[in-house]
Amino acid sequence: MSDKKIITVFGATGNQGGSVVQTFLHDAKLKDEWSVRGVTRDVSKDSSKKLAAQGVDVVSADLNDKASIVEALKGSYAVFAVTNYWEKMDDKLEVQQGKNLADAAKEANVKFLIWSSLYNVHKLSKGALPHVYHFDSKATVEEYIRELGIPAAFFMPGFYMSNLPGGSFRKSPEHDDNTWTLGLPFPGSTQIPVYHPGDTGKYVKAMVLNQDAVRGQRFLAATAYATADELVADFQQAFPAQTARYAEVPKDAFFAALTQGPAGLPEFAAVELYENMRLMSDFGYYGGDSLDWTHGLIEDPLTTWRQFVETASAFAGLK
Ligand SMILES: NC(=O)c1ccc[n+]([C@@H]2O[C@H](COP(=O)([O-])OP(=O)(O)OC[C@H]3O[C@@H](n4cnc5c(N)ncnc54)[C@H](OP(=O)(O)O)[C@@H]3O)[C@@H](O)[C@H]2O)c1
Repeated sequence: MSDKKIITVFGATGNQGGSVVQTFLHDAKLKDEWSVRGVTRDVSKDSSKKLAAQGVDVVSADLNDKASIVEALKGSYAVFAVTNYWEKMDDKLEVQQGKNLADAAKEANVKFLIWSSLYNVHKLSKGALPHVYHFDSKATVEEYIRELGIPAAFFMPGFYMSNLPGGSFRKSPEHDDNTWTLGLPFPGSTQIPVYHPGDTGKYVKAMVLNQDAVRGQRFLAATAYATADELVADFQQAFPAQTARYAEVPKDAFFAALTQGPAGLPEFAAVELYENMRLMSDFGYYGGDSLDWTHGLIEDPLTTWRQFVETASAFAGLK
């Protein structure tokens, strides 16, 4: 039997977990000390087979089924876990999944649980933004993990860079020239903590290498705070032949785009996302907390927005 420590990754076939898997498989400081177990509900799908071919111990479990989680966690030293609110858009289900995971981690005597959490916006905004369910549900699980007293730390992903291209940042429909508009329902001076999900492994590496320092702490995961205006300016510098601008989107237009556009979201989810945006302008995505502590512990360069726009498929071929 291998004497490597096992890190078990929920969401191994997705953005956050997938990045953790790749880092622990390939990083020079980690690969000889750790082996990677990746959890999926479907071990037969292509993405699961691809992980198995890379040397991941791919196992089947479902966050809705605690017994399957306990089985998946057997022998694990560390666990990275993320839930996907947007699959069912059901915050109660997400809380239950997180609690199942936490209970199973306790039962399996996991030494270090890393929960992909978010701030409780209802509390942070003192009740002004009560509908950001996917934040509050993850925060409720964080609270539960703290109550259980298991050794844990909280990974706090920022605003995905990939949220913007194609949707909020696109060629202006009213122009047939090279004009691009970033449109969000807040002023261009709003600070956005930009995060590249492909960097998740870099953050989790730092958390694992600094367990004593990060246990019980929140580990903010963003490359930088950048204003919407700055994001546009970076795009403009990357593609000087384009014209880029920021336009604050009125609330009604934001709602219409989400509910009537290709996203076809239900009304409650549009309210949720609108409040999610207002969190950034009115209270701060992280309530104004600094990224300095996290950045002081990270060893690997984080992906900048400028690097991201240069590789984003929605911007491919631009000059
Ligand atoms: N977009 C943003 O700006 C942003 C910011 C912060 C946080 N987030 C949060 O990020 C989360 C999504 O993370 P992601 O981007 O990594 O997701 P993703 O790429 O969509 O992948 C979701 C992963 O979750 C796994 N999963 C889903 N339901 C499961 C279940 N019942 N049991 C076991 N595994 C399950 C899936 O595994 P299988 O399908 O293989 O089973 C898949 O690997 C969301 O909850 C969202 O709220 C998003």
